[in-house]
Amino acid sequence: MCTLKVKLPQKEYSIIIEREILGSIGRKIKKIYRNKKIAIITDSNVEELYGKSIMNSLNEEGFETKIIVIEPGEESKSLDTASNIYKELLDFEITRGDMIIAFGGGVVGDLAGFVASTLLRGIPFIQIPSTLLAQIDSSVGGKVAVNLPEGKNLIGSFYHPEVVFIDPELLKTLDKRFLYDGMAEVIKYGCIRDKRLFDKLMKFKDEEELFSNMEEIIQSCCAIKRDIVERDEKDTGERMLLNFGHTIGHAIEKHFGYKKYTHGEAVAIGMYNITKKSEEIGITDKGTVKHIEEIITKYSLPYIMPETNRDEIIKAIGIDKKNKGDSLNIVLLHRIGESFIKKINRKDVDKYII
Ligand code: GLY
Repeated sequence: MCTLKVKLPQKEYSIIIEREILGSIGRKIKKIYRNKKIAIITDSNVEELYGKSIMNSLNEEGFETKIIVIEPGEESKSLDTASNIYKELLDFEITRGDMIIAFGGGVVGDLAGFVASTLLRGIPFIQIPSTLLAQIDSSVGGKVAVNLPEGKNLIGSFYHPEVVFIDPELLKTLDKRFLYDGMAEVIKYGCIRDKRLFDKLMKFKDEEELFSNMEEIIQSCCAIKRDIVERDEKDTGERMLLNFGHTIGHAIEKHFGYKKYTHGEAVAIGMYNITKKSEEIGITDKGTVKHIEEIITKYSLPYIMPETNRDEIIKAIGIDKKNKGDSLNIVLLHRIGESFIKKINRKDVDKYII
């Protein structure tokens, strides 16, 4: 078990990482929350696997609960779904003194966090992330949002949870493709900040060894993200380092309509290709991209750019809504474990990126 404290100017909260925490979640919540009402927002996959166990644990402590189940998948991260949830929460007569739990992957966390941040001008919420990606990235740092037809995460805010409960045991039921999806972001943390983590990931013999080290891996990733978010909560500087591999990654995801590649797969392609380029032009130490290729392959992730679509992907980078103006910020490595932000001119996309 491990607890990390997140200390921000307006808020402090804990990230608690503990195996089988779900069974005692009611007792843990009772220690930090005195009222009775709790609304749990989850998706139908998570509900089927863990719905009973979370409800039992909360009901044993006498909480008055309501579970709101959404369809799994990115389509649910919409204003329409948010509207339906607002209605259900109002039917439950929720107030600002009550609690919402976001129980699921990134979609549930972002959507439930967005709902919690807006309904009645803000209701406290707890994150219980159920995927590796959510446990090491989206549940930490307070970004909450929904998508618009014009793009992902276009409406949202920074709204932090009261606490994040991370149960590595939940990952055992995760589809392998989604486990490796999360591993791409774990690899990213190794690349940008932690050579020791990178080397450790390279040494694991099999999945069993990976799982037996999972608590420590999650702790390393969350600690890196916590440190960065404490220094740059609103994403105006250092937090951009978390976007290593994402400039190309986002463009690939978008180009293929968010269907062909998972987020992690697209980011893996991004990390490899941007480093290949920066190594070629002498910014990154020789041999770095080889290590990235090895680790990406070890975790069953792709690294080859979908060649036929290269020009369109370059175009997609150029018109990314986050990159307005003449310049854009990209994240490059000096070497494994050391990263930096470089401002480049939009016309140099093909010199620095792919
Ligand atoms: N996932 C990137 C961030 O939280 O800033």
